[in-house]
Amino acid sequence: MSRATSYLAAVVLGLSTLSSAAAANPQEAPGSAIHFDAAQRVFRIDAGKITYAFGVNGDGALQTLYWGSRLAADDLLGPASVPKERSSFDPVGSNTPQEYAGWGGAITVMPDLKLHFADGNRDLVLRYDSYRIENGSLHITLQDRAAKVTVGLRYVVDAATGILGRSARIENHASQALTIDRAAAASWNLPSATDYSLRYLTGTWASEWHLRTRPLTPGATELESRRGSTGDENNSWFAIERGGEWNESRGRVWFGALAWSGSWSIHIDQDVLNQVRVTGGFNPFDFSYPLEPGQSLQTPVFYAGYTDEGIGEASRLLHQFERSSILPARPQLKLRPVLYNSWEATEFKVNEAGQQRLAEKAAALGVERFVVDDGWFGARNSDHAGLGDWVVNREKFPNGLKPLIDKVHGLGMSFGLWVEPEMVNPDSDLYRQHPDWVLHFEGRQRSPARHQLVLNLAREDVSAHVFEVLDQLLSQNDIQFLKWDYNRNWSEPGWPQLAPEQQQKVYVAYVHHLYDILRRLRERHPGVEIESCSGGGARVDLGIMGLTDEVWPSDNTDPSDRLSIQDGFSYAYAPAVMMSWVTGSPNWVNRRSSSLDFRFLSSMQGGLGIGANILEWTPAEDASARAYIAAYKGIRATVQSGRLYRLLSPQERAPQSATESVQADGSQAVLFAFLRQGQEAQAYPTLYLQGLDSAARYRQRLIHGKAAVGTPEMASGAYWMHHGIDLSLQGDLDAAAVVFDRVGSSTSTSTTSTSTSRDR
Ligand code: GLA
Repeated sequence: MSRATSYLAAVVLGLSTLSSAAAANPQEAPGSAIHFDAAQRVFRIDAGKITYAFGVNGDGALQTLYWGSRLAADDLLGPASVPKERSSFDPVGSNTPQEYAGWGGAITVMPDLKLHFADGNRDLVLRYDSYRIENGSLHITLQDRAAKVTVGLRYVVDAATGILGRSARIENHASQALTIDRAAAASWNLPSATDYSLRYLTGTWASEWHLRTRPLTPGATELESRRGSTGDENNSWFAIERGGEWNESRGRVWFGALAWSGSWSIHIDQDVLNQVRVTGGFNPFDFSYPLEPGQSLQTPVFYAGYTDEGIGEASRLLHQFERSSILPARPQLKLRPVLYNSWEATEFKVNEAGQQRLAEKAAALGVERFVVDDGWFGARNSDHAGLGDWVVNREKFPNGLKPLIDKVHGLGMSFGLWVEPEMVNPDSDLYRQHPDWVLHFEGRQRSPARHQLVLNLAREDVSAHVFEVLDQLLSQNDIQFLKWDYNRNWSEPGWPQLAPEQQQKVYVAYVHHLYDILRRLRERHPGVEIESCSGGGARVDLGIMGLTDEVWPSDNTDPSDRLSIQDGFSYAYAPAVMMSWVTGSPNWVNRRSSSLDFRFLSSMQGGLGIGANILEWTPAEDASARAYIAAYKGIRATVQSGRLYRLLSPQERAPQSATESVQADGSQAVLFAFLRQGQEAQAYPTLYLQGLDSAARYRQRLIHGKAAVGTPEMASGAYWMHHGIDLSLQGDLDAAAVVFDRVGSSTSTSTTSTSTSRDR
């Protein structure tokens, strides 16, 4: 079949269109395209190295046809044919890999949408109605076969990575009210197979980002948060690989992540016929969302991608996508300045003189951003009081924050401040005035955690107050950065001011207001950057990442534990946003002692920060820190915006681990190698670099550590990738870092903007 007949009614739009030359060799096509083949009733999306296709089947349902490596433009996909009924226990509706299934008819699989009408009807059978392609995205309308309830599906695609974003808008055009019981953003159907493995991330406070792998077998796995926010028990990311063939650089991988910072769920189901379906969106637990006639509900976006180049490439695609399409500075990346944070040095005992001394020392070391953490406001002398009262504590800062801010600016650094705007201590003026502003059930006990309660941001008056307080803080003080903390889960999530049947809207309205506050603050104060922190890494997801510039992966700053934490983080999220601090030794979490070298090299794998009491550092430590910070500035663009290769995994407490970051244009690579615990006289494994320009020559220089005798100063990319490099790491907690600079000019250009020393 010719291309012309295959695409009878081809509609070609997208981030860029597919040229005929590119169509002849689709693997090289840089663009993306969305087509509708009216004859076959097939929708096809080509982008990056992927093709995604689904069609309208004979029953009018939307049925997934293909999701995998890019196909030739004239490959025929479809028509979508309704599967045969296998038995009376396997109804057709359940065997059909539907793009978005309503709970109704004879369906038994986990539906995307389940609702009930005021009159008691709970049947919803979604059928194709129409489509349009607008601004590079595909919109499809499904409608219930009896009631006027529609679902608007939206598909967006990133031309470079082939990552798709899917979401749904549920609209009630019927004459009676309905209530949504569960609403997913999308379902992803994978080809049938018996050898899939699921990777996912689990954790808890100070122990986040553990990578887990389990075989998929018939049955369901639920990754979720019921906590009101993203949480760290599971992160809202998944990857599924075909077994037997996968590793970092080989094998088919389907992966995805939700852009939602409230309670969420990703339901992974393999049926007995080995069909795999990944359904993600709002967590149906305790969910209920009424829609009057004329009302609608928009779901979050569920992003997903595919590669046949292994889990390493899956991570790199996500990193690239986050930098170019999610982060606020998109499509450019704003590099992270070297930061100092006072928390571990002074905790709540902050004051003007003490912070000024720390600022002077930080600037002398080469720090670019100085951040005052908790304790600067209200009656905040411990975590028992003061949250909610965002006024400067005049005992600690008699002249307000201005003298300190001026001092920090005078030292050439930007100024940042810690806030936790969604929380309140019962011992605060705000709570004494507005005890009804928190999440609670009337007449029931409220459960504090860290002596604090959660403000009900879903309320208009509460979110208006939070916005005004922060807007004032940023208007009255010359601040460039907020560390936005969030230190507990929800409890008693009641909203007693609303009618009982409306109260569970809190799960959606809270997050929408949070996003709205962040968006408006960014608009009013475009020079201010924000970090998402949640007692560590409990609120990291593609939703919050769209409105914040960096994240705090864990309160655990032990540099050895951090190797696993940072490695786990890197499966889903870019080093560009991952802050990592050098803190004191022994470490406060586990009393482990480590050298300053080990601490610096571990932290240099992300956005470098210092959180130690630097006033206690010796002149030798100062000199060492100055050298590391200077070295970091020379490699930060590579670390933060380069392609990350995980060479040796630190998971499962492995003694050896190594990563390599390569600049997009191949001009520089940075290799980090760590040894947690040496064994006998074993040599460190040879490290083979990846992603270099084979023919170009690279000069190596050590930031720290020792290379084996005979290591050449300069060699080809091919040499470093195939001969490799031997480093001598010995004993406990040893580390090395090597920079490889390409000798000669680059052939392509980098897409990052460099940070200035004062990013104001
Ligand atoms: C949380 C954060 C820490 C620090 C404290 C301050 O625990 O994760 O980094 O900011 O709050 O109270």
